[in-house]
Amino acid sequence: MKTIVAPSLLSCDFGRIKEEAEFLNESDAQWFHLDVMDGVFVPNISFGLPIIEAFRKHTEKTLDVHAMIARPDDFIADFKAAGADVLTVHYEACPHLNRTIDAIKKAGMKAGVALNPHTPVSALSDIIQDVDMVLIMSVNPGFGGQKFIPHTYNKVRYLKSLIDQVGKPTLIEVDGGVNLEIASILVKEGVDVLVAGSTVYKSKDPKATITALGNC
Ligand code: DX5
Ligand code: ZN
Repeated sequence: MKTIVAPSLLSCDFGRIKEEAEFLNESDAQWFHLDVMDGVFVPNISFGLPIIEAFRKHTEKTLDVHAMIARPDDFIADFKAAGADVLTVHYEACPHLNRTIDAIKKAGMKAGVALNPHTPVSALSDIIQDVDMVLIMSVNPGFGGQKFIPHTYNKVRYLKSLIDQVGKPTLIEVDGGVNLEIASILVKEGVDVLVAGSTVYKSKDPKATITALGNC
């Protein structure tokens, strides 16, 4: 399995956190994707630190936290304490991104930057050398179950060339509306991490779907 699959827990049953974690532990998913939404940066509220902590108790796998929040700088230490391994902040929420990335790394986490669909990849040209991962949003953030925006393919291609120029092992993650067909195109374009909520949790056999995504 060369592609990292990060099922989005936004689509899981929060009344069964232990069982949901055990299910992913037994699957080929390498990461758990946790969508934190504050109702300010995005028009929805999901969950916060206690839910991350709860999943941490039941897994050794990588916790990939996607912070869709205003002022993520104020919570870096809290995300680390809750058990995050990768912390991705939004470009649009960080006026001092260089400082934010530095603080995430100093706190002992991998640092990711997410781009909304309208934000150009070129906005990262002077920070790309410092980030561990770029998350390209392929829907407008805030909700699961939305339709993939096809322009994402162009952004991935451009990002891949930017990363190749720098020559560092920066990961590319795509999040939103990813199904098996889209996944196989994304992986060919150089995507390393696939986030999938509905595609995994609404499928007849979620475990087999995770394996299929990983084999894309
Ligand atoms: C959307 C979130 C996604 C979402 C993905 O704002 O960042 O992670 O849960 O769900 P699907 O795969 O259903 O689009
Ligand atoms: Zn996400």
